Amino acid sequence: MTRYARITGTGSCLPPRQLTNADMVDLLAKRQIETSDEWIVERTGIRARHFVDDGVNASDLGAEAARRAMAAAGAQPSEIDLIIVATSTPDMVFPATAAIIQHKLGIAGCPVFDVQAVCSGFIYALSVADAMIKAGSVSKALVIGAEVFSRLLDFNDRTTCVLFGDGAGAVVLEASDRPGILASALHADGQHVGILCVPGHVNGGQVLGDPLLKMDGQAVFKLAVGVLHDVAKEVLQKAGRTEADIDWLVPHQANIRIMASTARKLRMSMDKVVVTVDQHGNTSAASIPLALDHGVRAGQIKPGDTLLLEGVGGGFTWGAVLVDF
Ligand code: UT7
Repeated sequence: MTRYARITGTGSCLPPRQLTNADMVDLLAKRQIETSDEWIVERTGIRARHFVDDGVNASDLGAEAARRAMAAAGAQPSEIDLIIVATSTPDMVFPATAAIIQHKLGIAGCPVFDVQAVCSGFIYALSVADAMIKAGSVSKALVIGAEVFSRLLDFNDRTTCVLFGDGAGAVVLEASDRPGILASALHADGQHVGILCVPGHVNGGQVLGDPLLKMDGQAVFKLAVGVLHDVAKEVLQKAGRTEADIDWLVPHQANIRIMASTARKLRMSMDKVVVTVDQHGNTSAASIPLALDHGVRAGQIKPGDTLLLEGVGGGFTWGAVLVDF
């Protein structure tokens, strides 16, 4: 019997503190920096984002999202035999945030590790978990995206600080005799490292280089709209499906204009795109599982639907996963 991997539960967690665009206007005004709700909404589609309070880390958000995903799947912590966490904002340099989450969930013994592919991280993590399940070494995995990007923001840089937010999303991925993950494709091109990065690093007890996020927004935008359509076509072809088979596009939530461009190229109406960027901003590796959970709990995504999950991020990395839900 062929062994497949299926998503059997989704969960998410947002920190309670929400900042609207009006709050960002006030925050930046204190630094004599001008921005406006109109600019942010028109250029990005973002209206609000959530920020953690001091003392709350990616593992706190990720553990809660995982608990909710396990509850939705009817899975017990003792059954989990793999945890992969996609994050660029780990609690510590090491060990992995996955190990911290494992302990918070009361699990011990199974393999755990982090994946660092920035905003494409969840796509990478899901694809790796799918391969491990298909290989037979794992039966029930937690795949989590968890970020506290507010910690990386330069509030003197209006071109980036209004874009990002904090949050986490998770899925339970289980071995099954029915196909769930139909196909995945992962890519990267390291020549673009500099267009989206946090260049600082720890050295001898100090941070060397700038520890805040830098982005050439236009360069990222141009690359994103090109590769997202290509990778969508790639996974459809791998799975022997067509654009018409996609019920829901669940894209990385960075900019509504990028999502609209992808939907247009796939000849999909925006009614078939799960959109959370307006309320969450860009939560990097958390954005796709957050959007997925939102779509499921809002009653948009139903069992049996075919979903296209796709994202781009620093590296430059990009990828897509086609799912029968
Ligand atoms: O998660 C990884 C993937 N990341 C992304 O996908 C991000 C991709 N990039 C983008 O989403 C867009 O490039 C941005 C939203 C970052 C920027 O939008 P844009 O339409 O490319 O704007 P721009 O950078 O060309 O800036 C246009 C103007 C500039 O003023 P001038 O030079 O025309 O006078 C900026 O200084 O908008 C100005 N501006 C702002 N004005 C008010 C930039 N940020 C702001 C701001 N408020 N927050």
